[in-house]
Amino acid sequence: MPHAIVFLSEPIMKKIKIDTAFEVYDTVDELAAPIQNLLQKASEAREKAYAPYSKFLVGAALELENGEIISGNNQENASYPSGLCAERTAIYYAGAEFPNQKIIRMAIVAGSTLTPTTKPIPPCGACRQALSEYEVKQNTPMELYFMGTSGQIAHSKSVENILPWIFDKTVL
Ligand code: THU
Repeated sequence: MPHAIVFLSEPIMKKIKIDTAFEVYDTVDELAAPIQNLLQKASEAREKAYAPYSKFLVGAALELENGEIISGNNQENASYPSGLCAERTAIYYAGAEFPNQKIIRMAIVAGSTLTPTTKPIPPCGACRQALSEYEVKQNTPMELYFMGTSGQIAHSKSVENILPWIFDKTVL
């Protein structure tokens, strides 16, 4: 006996559409001085990354509301999954050391030592999830600026903007 085919006269499902937008700057000169400074700090952190396996060095710098700047970089491991991305290295340190300070913005500079990285490099999915935890916690948007070792700089007004419909504490 074949399965019956049911034709629905009206579609019952609904669509959810999520719009997102980024600003892109051609050079750091177009950015305000504090942002340029944060990108510079991220670039300096990148130089100190420990990435002997991927040769892909990432630096992150975040600015707290009290003006303090915390930086971090990727830390790799011979047991590959044990390594940690730059963004999480930085934000976990901020969370550990300054648990009550809001994070205003984060800058990320990423690039290979093998080939030029001239496009903005967005944070990976795991880092987006980790960053969003702090954005939700502080109830204030955390701006993101990210770039390669040269070229354009992308700006996201918040973490939610690059990770909409987040799994966060409100679902637990
Ligand atoms: N990496 C980061 O530090 N941040 C990201 O958002 C993406 C990837 C690091 C992890 C690894 O050490 C190297 O870049 C290559 O994936």
